[in-house]
Amino acid sequence: MAVILENVYYKYDVEDNTNIEYGIFNINMNVEQGKTVGIIGKTGSGKSTLMQHLNALYLPQKGKVIVGDFIVDKKSKDLRNLRKKVGMVFQYPEDQLFEETIFNDLAFGPKNLGLSKEQIEKAIRGAMADLELDFDSMKDRSPYQLSGGQKRKVAIASVLAMNPQILVLDEPTAGLDPKSKKDLLNLLISIKNKRNLTLFFVSHNMDDVFLLTEYIYVMCDGRIVFEGSTEEVFKENTKLRELDLGVPFSVEVLELLEKRGMYKGPLKPMELEELADLLVGIIRGKND
Ligand SMILES: Nc1ncnc2c1ncn2[C@@H]1O[C@H](COP(=O)(O)OP(=O)(O)O)[C@@H](O)[C@H]1O
Ligand SMILES: [Mg+2]
Repeated sequence: MAVILENVYYKYDVEDNTNIEYGIFNINMNVEQGKTVGIIGKTGSGKSTLMQHLNALYLPQKGKVIVGDFIVDKKSKDLRNLRKKVGMVFQYPEDQLFEETIFNDLAFGPKNLGLSKEQIEKAIRGAMADLELDFDSMKDRSPYQLSGGQKRKVAIASVLAMNPQILVLDEPTAGLDPKSKKDLLNLLISIKNKRNLTLFFVSHNMDDVFLLTEYIYVMCDGRIVFEGSTEEVFKENTKLRELDLGVPFSVEVLELLEKRGMYKGPLKPMELEELADLLVGIIRGKND
C-alpha cells in the first residue's frame, strides 16, 4: 500500500510560557508500495507523532493522510479497516505484552479482527516463524520469562500476526545488546521482503538506517527539513551534524582518512565489505 501525506499538521495543546510549538507542521510525504523509508531526527523532532498519523492514532488537524484507498482527515471516523492494514511497533513494544502466555499475546490482535480459531493459529504460526520463534516450545510460555531480545521479537510478532501491509517500526532496536540487534535487523529485512511490506523505520542509528532504507526523511522541530535517497542524504555529513545527527560508520572513517590526506573520493556511505576493500587499497598504495 502506498502512503501519501498532504500538508499534515498536528499541534499539541501545550502551555509552557514559551513560544515553541510542539507537534508536526506541513508534512508532505509520498511513499510507494513496497518501499522502505527511514525517518531520522533528534529526540523531540516529531518522528513518533508523525508515525502515529499513519494508523490514525492521531488525526491531522489540517491536511490529510492517504493510505491505499483510505483518506484520513480531521473528520474521519470508523478507522478499523485502516488499523488492520497498518502495523505499529512502538518504542519498547514489549511493555505492551500482558497475557499469561505468548500464544495469548499473539492472539489478541487477530481475535479483535474477528478471525476464526484456525485463522488465528495460522497467523500466529506465520508471525512466529518469521521471527524465528519456535511455536511448539514457546506458545505456552510466559512472555515475562524471555530475554530482552526474545521479548522484543514476540512483541513484533504480535503486530505481524494481524497481517499488516504497512509496518511502522519506531526505534525497534533501542536498548538491545549488539547481537540481538543485528539478529533483529536481519530478520526485519527478510520479513519486509517476504511479506512485501511498505516499511517505515524510525531510528537514531545511522548505520541501521543505511542498512535498511532506500529513502530518508530528515525531521527537525516538527518539520521535514530535507529528504532524498539514502545515499544522497548520507552524503550531507555537514548538514546532518548541524541537526545533531550522526553519519554512518563508513562515512566517519572516510572523513578521518580525508583529513589525513589519505582519501579524496566522495564521502558516500558504503557497506563494510566495500569500506574494507577501500582501506586495503589505501594500505597497499602506501606500501608500493
Ligand atoms: N502528548 C504530548 N503532549 C504534548 N507534547 C507532546 C506530546 N507528545 C510529544 N510532544 C512533544 O512534541 C514534540 C515531538 O515529539 P515526538 O513526536 O515524540 O518526537 P520524537 O519521536 O522525534 O522524539 C516534542 O517536543 C514533544 O515534547
Ligand atoms: Mg519518538
